[in-house]
Amino acid sequence: MEIQLPQAGTIEIAPSILSADFARLADEIAAIESAGVEIVHLDVMDGHFVPNITIGPPVIARLRKCSRLVFDSHLMISEPAEYAERFVEAGVNHITFHIEAADEPGKLIDKLHKLGVTAGICVNPETPVDAIEAVAPLCDMVLVMTVNPGFGGQKFMPEAAKKISQVREIVGAETRVEVDGGIGPETAGLVVSYGADTLVVGNAIFSKPDRIAAINAIREAVK
Ligand code: DX5
Ligand code: ZN
Repeated sequence: MEIQLPQAGTIEIAPSILSADFARLADEIAAIESAGVEIVHLDVMDGHFVPNITIGPPVIARLRKCSRLVFDSHLMISEPAEYAERFVEAGVNHITFHIEAADEPGKLIDKLHKLGVTAGICVNPETPVDAIEAVAPLCDMVLVMTVNPGFGGQKFMPEAAKKISQVREIVGAETRVEVDGGIGPETAGLVVSYGADTLVVGNAIFSKPDRIAAINAIREAVK
């Protein structure tokens, strides 16, 4: 069966491998898979849109051979439309791009759907929800950043998280609302109360020696 985002209506933890051991990525993904997560969040950075560089299609293509998880790719890159096809070929199942990086977001969402992946739009902490109001309903998932993108392990920005409620109002119950940045047992409950159902978690999982216990601690926090 095709690998795809779970239907809206469940709370999903999407571990971000940004804080994982990059020399042991397959093992790290196997560990979170054994904890029963459905989604892995792949942070792609180009050194232009954000001041950091991570992984791209060749690494993702190798990981695809090791995992059946939903590959949720978060493109923090300039010109996402130029690269979308290569990420799909590498095996991602979902592509989120930044509204700040896209000239024609509606067209790109359409292109992603035609390429056979689900589509997401992302807003940075300083970007108002108005900027995505027209295109958010076309997306399968909307991502609200609660840190400035670029690095793992940053401090959660509570003001930015308030935008989750606005996004949830726009998209209704059938679209996933994802939150990314500074999420852990202390912040997960709050963002879920605002309407987030997909929690990206990097540092709070991969800085802990026991990844499975760390995932379970977040599950407890949102019960
Ligand atoms: C930040 C990335 C995040 C990052 C989150 O630019 O988009 O996905 O890995 O890491 P934590 O959970 O450590 O804030
Ligand atoms: Zn991310």
